[in-house]
Amino acid sequence: MTFGDFVSEQRANLPIHVTPEACGGKTYIVTGSNTGLGLEAAKHLVRCKAKKVIIAVRNLEAGEAVKAEIENVTKIRGVAEVWHVDLADFQSVKDFAKKATESLDRIDGLIENASIALDRISIAEGYETTITINVLSTFLMAVLLLPKLSDTAKQFGTTSHLSIVVSAAGFAFKEPFDKVKDDFLRKMNSPTNANMGSRYPVSKLIQIFAGRHFAKLVPIERTGVAVNFVNPGLCKTGLSRHGRFLNRLPIVGMGLVLGRTPEMGSRTLLHGAVAGKESHGCYLSVCEIREHQLPSWVSDEEGQKQGKIIWDEIANVLEKIEPGCLSKIL
Ligand SMILES: NC(=O)c1ccc[n+]([C@@H]2O[C@H](COP(=O)([O-])OP(=O)(O)OC[C@H]3O[C@@H](n4cnc5c(N)ncnc54)[C@H](OP(=O)(O)O)[C@@H]3O)[C@@H](O)[C@H]2O)c1
Repeated sequence: MTFGDFVSEQRANLPIHVTPEACGGKTYIVTGSNTGLGLEAAKHLVRCKAKKVIIAVRNLEAGEAVKAEIENVTKIRGVAEVWHVDLADFQSVKDFAKKATESLDRIDGLIENASIALDRISIAEGYETTITINVLSTFLMAVLLLPKLSDTAKQFGTTSHLSIVVSAAGFAFKEPFDKVKDDFLRKMNSPTNANMGSRYPVSKLIQIFAGRHFAKLVPIERTGVAVNFVNPGLCKTGLSRHGRFLNRLPIVGMGLVLGRTPEMGSRTLLHGAVAGKESHGCYLSVCEIREHQLPSWVSDEEGQKQGKIIWDEIANVLEKIEPGCLSKIL
């Protein structure tokens, strides 16, 4: 894509794909919905007559404030519910998935929006924190909630959606994946190997590589669940707030000039939540299926092999966190 194309995409007025006809009576989970794109997506879903919208957050106070804001703006009460989940804690993800599976009568859409951009190394659950949150816990939740999404689709004769919010920023980082070797996730912990300047975009690239392989393992014909990967574009949110001042400057500056508002960016998430069967396994951007915008080194045969290697390593970790979780869905 040329810079000109990028600018015109950023400035486009995106369509709102969710409607009361598409979302009425359905249940959605939006992770990281106390702020930014997740908050705006949750607000739209409430407005579109969803039956329940779970505001899945690590900070309950912030979640309750958002619930009050949504109720105030939409004048719709009793739809948004605030639930705790901390993606830096595998047990918290497991507890959340158990509660959702047991207490919700249906889950029509899971929007895995929560992510973090760190540029200092820290460890959570034995892995670098960005990797734990953006990659391992994101796929742990996907794997644990896929059965409920699938049951919902079968019971109601609908298509459920599992959307992972990715980023095109990772496409600038081919190099780290040229030689993926065993235990590469753990090696990303090493203070000497960890290039934290590129850690966030690389984590989003891992989501795409691994997620596309995961989608192949759970075909929609069997599950009734469309698994897709949504790029929201550059948006004016606080995503870079954890970074060092100098690292933040370029992205904040570009965001100020070209960034979408959080509400405009959230429309891409909404598209993912209703994009239908044809979106399964696909990269979505500007509210369309945009497979052709993937770099060839992601989508070609070599890229697919890379995706399998990366997924296999993630799968090994997931099996250790929750033994048997993969056999339930594969
Ligand atoms: N903004 C952009 O330009 C852009 C571009 C491409 C892709 N994206 C993607 O869009 C998604 C939303 O980002 P955003 O821009 O809206 O950023 P944001 O405003 O920073 O929202 C991120 C959300 O993730 C939550 N989160 C972080 N760590 C968590 C954890 N351990 N457990 C649970 N929740 C956690 C945050 O919670 P706290 O408030 O508690 O920190 C926040 O609610 C992300 O996946 C991001 O990678 C954004």
